[in-house]
Amino acid sequence: MPRNKVTVIGAGNVGATAAQRIAESGIADVVLVDIVDGLPQGKGLDLAEAAPVVGHDARVTGTNDYAETAGSDIVVVTSGLARQPGMSRDDLLAKNAGIVRSVVEEAARQSPDAILIIVTNPLDAMCHVAMQASGFPRERVLGMAGVLDSARFRTFIAQELDVSVENVTAFVLGGHGDTMVPLPRYSTVAGIPITELLSKERLEALVKRTANGGAEIVGLLKTGSAYYAPAASVVDMVEAILKDKKKVLPCTAYLEGEYGLKGLFVGVPVKLGRRGVEQILQITLAPDEAAALGRSAAAVRELTDKLGI
Ligand SMILES: NC(=O)c1ccc[n+]([C@@H]2O[C@H](COP(=O)([O-])OP(=O)(O)OC[C@H]3O[C@@H](n4cnc5c(N)ncnc54)[C@H](O)[C@@H]3O)[C@@H](O)[C@H]2O)c1
Repeated sequence: MPRNKVTVIGAGNVGATAAQRIAESGIADVVLVDIVDGLPQGKGLDLAEAAPVVGHDARVTGTNDYAETAGSDIVVVTSGLARQPGMSRDDLLAKNAGIVRSVVEEAARQSPDAILIIVTNPLDAMCHVAMQASGFPRERVLGMAGVLDSARFRTFIAQELDVSVENVTAFVLGGHGDTMVPLPRYSTVAGIPITELLSKERLEALVKRTANGGAEIVGLLKTGSAYYAPAASVVDMVEAILKDKKKVLPCTAYLEGEYGLKGLFVGVPVKLGRRGVEQILQITLAPDEAAALGRSAAAVRELTDKLGI
C-alpha cells in the first residue's frame, strides 16, 4: 500500500505540533513547509530524530520548496501572521489572504488531488480564499474550527460535572470566534442532554467561555495563541480522512443551500472520509439557534465582501 503523505504549510506553533502528532500517529509521512529558510528543515530533522525513540516509521522532512510536497493526500495550511500591535483586523485579513492565496496556489499545483484543511485565521474567510486559489471542488476544501471549539466546550462540561471527557459530546455550529453557535441541546454526557444536568445559568457561562476560548488563551500566553488543542483537532480531521472513517465532525464547509445559506463557508456537521466532505448533515434548528447561525454567517460574509470574493 502506498504511504500517505501530508504537507503542513507553516512550521510555527500549530503547524509543527500538528506535524509531530501526525508523524507519531504513524498515519502519514509529513512534509513541513515554511517561508523562513532553515525553520522547517530544522524542525523536520528534529522530528525525524525523535522517530527511533517514539517508535514510528513516518518520514518527516522540512523544506522551502513546494516541489517536495508533490503528490500529497492532504495539505494543511497554518501559514499566516498573528495580529501585531497597531495592526487592525482588516490589515490581518488582507495580509493572511495574500499568504493563503500564494501558498495554496503553489501547493495545489503540486498536489492537484489533495484535500485542503485550512487553519489560518480569519478561518472562514481564508477557506474562501483557498477554494478560489486552488480551484478545487467544495468536497476538498474545509476548515478546522468546530472540532477545536467543541473540544473546548467538552472540556468545560467535563470539568464542571467532574466526568470523563470521553463521556461528553458537544456540538458547535457557525463561524469561528465570537459568533460561533454552541448547541447545548445536542451536547450530551453519556447520551444525557446537558440541559438535564446543568442549570441554565451555568450552561450560559460555559457557552460564553467556549465562545471566548481562543481569547482566554491569548490573554494567558500574551505572545501567541493556542496550539496544542488546535493541532490535535487538525489531526482528528486528517485521521478521519486518511482512514476513510466517515466520522461526523463539525467542520467549516462551503454551503450551497444547506441551512438556508449559499456560497458561504460556515461551520456545520460534516461526514469526513477519503473523499473529504462526503456529506453535510442538516439538523433542525430552534428559532434562536437559526438566528445565531444567521448572525454568524453575516459576519463571515462581511469579511469575504471586504476581500471582494
Ligand atoms: N482555526 C483555528 O481554530 C485556529 C487555531 C489556532 C490558530 N489558528 C491560526 O493558525 C495560524 C498559525 O498559528 P500559529 O500559532 O502556528 O502561528 P505561528 O506564527 O507560530 O506560525 C505561523 C508560521 O507561518 C509561517 N509563514 C508566514 N508566511 C508564510 C508563507 N508565505 N509561506 C509559508 N509559511 C509562512 C511563519 O514563518 C510561521 O512559521 C494563525 O493564523 C492562527 O490565527 C487557527
